[in-house]
This record gives sequence, C-alpha cells and structure tokens, in this order.
Amino acid sequence: MADVKITVRPNGPYRVEGPFTLVDAEGKEWTLPEGKPWVSLCRCGASVNKPFCDGTHSKIGFQAAEAAVRAEEGSAGFDVKI
Ligand code: FES
Repeated sequence: MADVKITVRPNGPYRVEGPFTLVDAEGKEWTLPEGKPWVSLCRCGASVNKPFCDGTHSKIGFQAAEAAVRAEEGSAGFDVKI
C-alpha cells in the first residue's frame, strides 16, 4: 500500500508527500519537479502559482479556519480531531 501523507501547515499550505498524481479540474496531470517527492498546495487562495503555494499566505496574514474557530471559542489548543 502506497503511503501518502498530507500535513496541514499552521496557517499555511497542505504539504503532500508520497507517491501521488496531481490532476486539475480539467483532468490535466501536473508534473512534479524531478527529485521532489512532495508539494505544497495553496490553502489560502492567494497564490499566483495555484494550485501550489508560493508563500503569499505569509504576506497576507492568512489565518486558517481551525485557528479562527479556536480564537472564537477562546481556546489555544491544537487538539482538533477529524
Ligand atoms: S497557502 Fe501558501 S500561498 Fe496560499
């Protein structure tokens, strides 16, 4: 069984590691850079290189939804379960 790991970066992208195929909405497969076994996918919507993260999330002060919910609830923990 292939292992694909998706890591949610704090207030940042989704980092996808492992053997996978990335396909856009039109069925086009994206070629990953040679020797790079992972990609970071934009979660903030501000990247000019979508679907990939280009670091813009840091410049715009992106706050991920789970952080906003914790702030609303007054919790500082990171115990969100899916
Ligand atoms: S998550 Fe990094 S640019 Fe959107």
